[in-house]
Amino acid sequence: MCGIVGAVAQRDVSAILIEGLRRLEYRGYDSAGIALIDRNKLERFRALGKVQALADKISPEQAGSTGIAHTRWATHGAPSEVNAHPHFSRDRIALVHNGIIENYKEIREKLFADGYEFESETDTETVAHLIESYFEGDLYSAVHKAVGQLEGTFGLAVIVLDDPDTLVACRKGSPLVVGLGIQENFVASDVSALLPVTNRFIYLEEGDLVVINQKDYQIYGANGEPKELEVNITEMSADSISKGSYRHYMQKEIHEQANAVAECLEGRISENGVLDSVFGPDSDRIFKQVKQIQIVACGTSYHAGFVAKYWIEEILGLPCQIEVASEFRYRKSVVPQDTLFVTLSQSGETADTLAALRNLPLEDYCGSVSICNVPESSLVRESSLVLMTRAGPEIGVASTKAFTTQLVSMLLLIVSIGKARGLDESVIADIVHELRELPGQISELLKLDQQIEAVAEDFVDKHHALFLGRGVHYPIAMEGALKLKEISYIHAEAYPAGELKHGPLALVDTEMPVVVVTPNDDLLEKLHSNMQEVKARGGKLYVFAHQGAKLAETEDDVVIQMNCETRWTTPILSTIPLQLLSYYVAVQRGTDVDQPRNLAKSVTVE
Ligand code: M6R
Repeated sequence: MCGIVGAVAQRDVSAILIEGLRRLEYRGYDSAGIALIDRNKLERFRALGKVQALADKISPEQAGSTGIAHTRWATHGAPSEVNAHPHFSRDRIALVHNGIIENYKEIREKLFADGYEFESETDTETVAHLIESYFEGDLYSAVHKAVGQLEGTFGLAVIVLDDPDTLVACRKGSPLVVGLGIQENFVASDVSALLPVTNRFIYLEEGDLVVINQKDYQIYGANGEPKELEVNITEMSADSISKGSYRHYMQKEIHEQANAVAECLEGRISENGVLDSVFGPDSDRIFKQVKQIQIVACGTSYHAGFVAKYWIEEILGLPCQIEVASEFRYRKSVVPQDTLFVTLSQSGETADTLAALRNLPLEDYCGSVSICNVPESSLVRESSLVLMTRAGPEIGVASTKAFTTQLVSMLLLIVSIGKARGLDESVIADIVHELRELPGQISELLKLDQQIEAVAEDFVDKHHALFLGRGVHYPIAMEGALKLKEISYIHAEAYPAGELKHGPLALVDTEMPVVVVTPNDDLLEKLHSNMQEVKARGGKLYVFAHQGAKLAETEDDVVIQMNCETRWTTPILSTIPLQLLSYYVAVQRGTDVDQPRNLAKSVTVE
């Protein structure tokens, strides 16, 4: 779960690599480093903390036409300068790594016995020495031999002082792209790192190695045979990844949601339905067969899947299971006949989600669908049926517009399955009508911004918060709690409101803010009773009330009125004020909103 970038050019590549790291910082940001070859010199700079700390260490005189760089999310060894990449071997090999080498201990012991000295606690340094031990003048051969011995996952980029115009990179289980320039070539963990220098990319396949120099590149498959892969022109632009006039990416991404949802729907819905082409030509045959749905995802994407479970069972009348990918991938599960497998992921690179898909006995399922936001991701390239959420680049670690567009995408999936299975056309028309209204309603809700900013002040000195929801709003409460804890570091728990009396009520006192979203639905009265239980214990309620769901509040309650009344899209709308609440609490507590401690945007290790 680190970011790597490498370049071979005629010009100095240090600024290109630093900019690449800034764009990959979402993958990890506890330390960063760069290695440059300038004529006959291999130099390395490393810094604890963010890329800026590294940039501050590099003076304008430091240049090199070949280089590799890395931004780290620590796995083996604490965040420190000595554990930061690039790792060197005998001052001639330099290597950056994204992933985990599982058998590094035994390799390390052998290399140690052979006289290699280790300076870090990382698994990565072992690989640098292993490559050095095989190096006899040809870097490709040395890397090929070394990776043949590695177990685990890796995206690697390696340079050697003896061959200063060559860079060798390879991938297994971690993403890696090759960027093609004019008289210069690059590698990176993803395309965003290289958008300022090229729009031409090759997506390496599992086990591939690539040798690049200024003028050329050659790809080899895991078997060592040369191979060719398609060159793709990306539509992403370097400017799409900027904060604009917003203070944080998260704030910008919250405010982009009306557009993101509109984009997600564009060209996919008709007056009263969903177009046939949305999931591709084979989807109708598969959807007709579906009798059960299994959803697998992580974090916020898991919450989107959880909301969808409620919708699927209510709208389609089909049983639906939802499970976090890290559990599902290691569990023996029973697959009823004609089960459709659905994965959700913003990044499409989440290791557990990808592994769940890769290990799937596909023959046991009637098909698989992935809902994803990154077109170039591994998940998209490895899935048969895909729906892109089209949220646009999401940089803030806390997922916002990815979540709301995942929910919209799940409704599109549900309607498509419903259509294939003869769902009542009026239900389809109702859902589509509500989807059409959604962008405008989201824009309206975003006007609550200042009101919620003021409410957030109440949370600043709190240590804990409870989020309550019932039915489809239970996963929305989970998402609200996740958002608050990940960016404000306030401990937040979500409970189905009816569970309160079975334990968590013991936590409620005057210091415990309790956040509740109240939709105007069948469960409103039940929810009202649960809220009384909180009030009777001195707890303070923060109620986000949908139209028609206004309760007889007292002076102590904080009620924020949401002027929308919907049936199917209610959980999507409920999400918006909860995102704003977390955002403003975090801002007022002075945390690093876009890059909260210990986390990374794309979790490519398990
Ligand atoms: O890229 P994915 O959607 O697969 O990521 C899954 C989770 O890591 C992610 O949603 C995480 O929980 C977010 N930081 C939450 O805001």
